[in-house]
Amino acid sequence: MSELNKIALKILANGKGILAADESNGTMTKRLEAVNVQSTPENRLAFRETLLSSESMNDCIGGVILFDETINQITSTGKSIPDVISSTGAVPGIKVDTGAKNLANSPEEKITEGLDGLRERLKKYYELGARFTKWRGVYSISEKYPSKLAIHSNAHALARYSALVQECEMVPIVEPEVLMDGDHSAEDCLNKTSEVIKKCFEELILHEIDLSGIILKPNMILAGNNSKNKISNEEVAEKTLECLKNSVPSEVPGIAFLSGGQSEIEATENLNLINKKNYTNFIMTYSYGRALQQSALKFWSTDTKNIIGTQNVFNHRARMCTLAAQGKWTSELENK
Ligand code: 13P
Repeated sequence: MSELNKIALKILANGKGILAADESNGTMTKRLEAVNVQSTPENRLAFRETLLSSESMNDCIGGVILFDETINQITSTGKSIPDVISSTGAVPGIKVDTGAKNLANSPEEKITEGLDGLRERLKKYYELGARFTKWRGVYSISEKYPSKLAIHSNAHALARYSALVQECEMVPIVEPEVLMDGDHSAEDCLNKTSEVIKKCFEELILHEIDLSGIILKPNMILAGNNSKNKISNEEVAEKTLECLKNSVPSEVPGIAFLSGGQSEIEATENLNLINKKNYTNFIMTYSYGRALQQSALKFWSTDTKNIIGTQNVFNHRARMCTLAAQGKWTSELENK
């Protein structure tokens, strides 16, 4: 077993999942302002420190993805954020892309940037304690899109990123996110997501990536959020499994889904059904941002001094997601 494979399994095994707390300052400002909290470095730290010192960090969360500001912050106890995470047994991770920009010659689509100077930034993050990283490619579905150009260029960037990350002895999360925005059908989502993921692996293999030392972070297969033809949770699970079984090489140890705008309950229920039906060899778990933090953030915003109360809300969500990652969640447990 390679060292990278060991790190991937430490993050994902036994129903553990990933807390995606890597919102950029721009995104975090939107989230905080939506609940009437001012977005300052102190407030961003206070909320994140509250989550990272929760009890469920020990038994549910295997890894935390951080943003550059956060990985450099010192908590109220004098420990660095990566030290707080490591002391719970979880692995610190870091978002290393610098965001999605308009794609030249197809400006309605996006290309993710951040390769320039990446090797040097990775060394710095390793020294700060990071052992895994994230890079997100983003694709939208419409009649024309995603174009071959967007599919190819984002896959190429994800592969070059992964090679540099593995060279630095960290596990790359490969995140091709096909957005749920639009009125497309679930069948369109299945076809486009499969094409996107297959191209990613074609490029990863060309770049000689150790596939046993990566984590794939895909979207689930859903109808667009404005589609009139929504599918059942059972169908979401079936189509998601079909997509991954047919497009992901068997060496990959695990898949950690993004929540992508699903509600907390929807993201939990779909993950649970995926695990109940899972006929693949892949670990199927969560790497949620909004679907782990939304209720905790709302609670915290009403009284930012109520640390225990906020942690109770977060612990509940993390425990529900971890049960779902084992196919053991039921809706009755939500009210206990
Ligand atoms: P959501 O779960 O809120 O989609 O965030 C996950 C993530 O990391 C997106 O890049």
